[in-house]
Amino acid sequence: MGNIILVGFMGTGKSAVGKMLARKLNRPFVDLDRQIEKETGRTVQQIFERDGEPAFRRLEAKGVREAAARKGHVIATGGGVMCGEENVQALKSSGVLVCLTASADTILERTSASLVSRPLLAGGDPKERITELLALRTPYYARADITIDTTGRTLQEVSEEILCKIEKLKP
Ligand code: S3P
Repeated sequence: MGNIILVGFMGTGKSAVGKMLARKLNRPFVDLDRQIEKETGRTVQQIFERDGEPAFRRLEAKGVREAAARKGHVIATGGGVMCGEENVQALKSSGVLVCLTASADTILERTSASLVSRPLLAGGDPKERITELLALRTPYYARADITIDTTGRTLQEVSEEILCKIEKLKP
């Protein structure tokens, strides 16, 4: 059984939706960032601060390879995963890629309480940073199989739409 892999920008609900989907489908759930934190004993923020972003991306790529080797899991990824070509290839071959999107205002609202733990949004004007990064990353996210806008929608609504769209992908 293929994996269901949630990708998309920070604050689009990948972890929360992933947990709900896993519960609904009775499948195991993996959150790549939490997995990295468990294995290194450090938070994502600490890894960025002490070792820099390239070191985090290497850990992330390793986590992606391991996750892609699993079967029948629901996997939530970090917002930058789609920017790595090898990540995209590995994940595409392991299941269906579901991209969650949200408006910049919604992302700002959802991330404002946790800006410190999101190194790419910390410092400077977060709304500007979100708009800038979103524009840069949109072409990468477009490679997902399914895209779902989560703006103004509940976890339940988003999860149901994902299941419906996955069903339609089936030959
Ligand atoms: C990142 C998103 C974060 C985390 C890291 C880098 C990104 O995950 O992986 O801070 O590059 O967009 P979330 O999308 O779960 O916040």
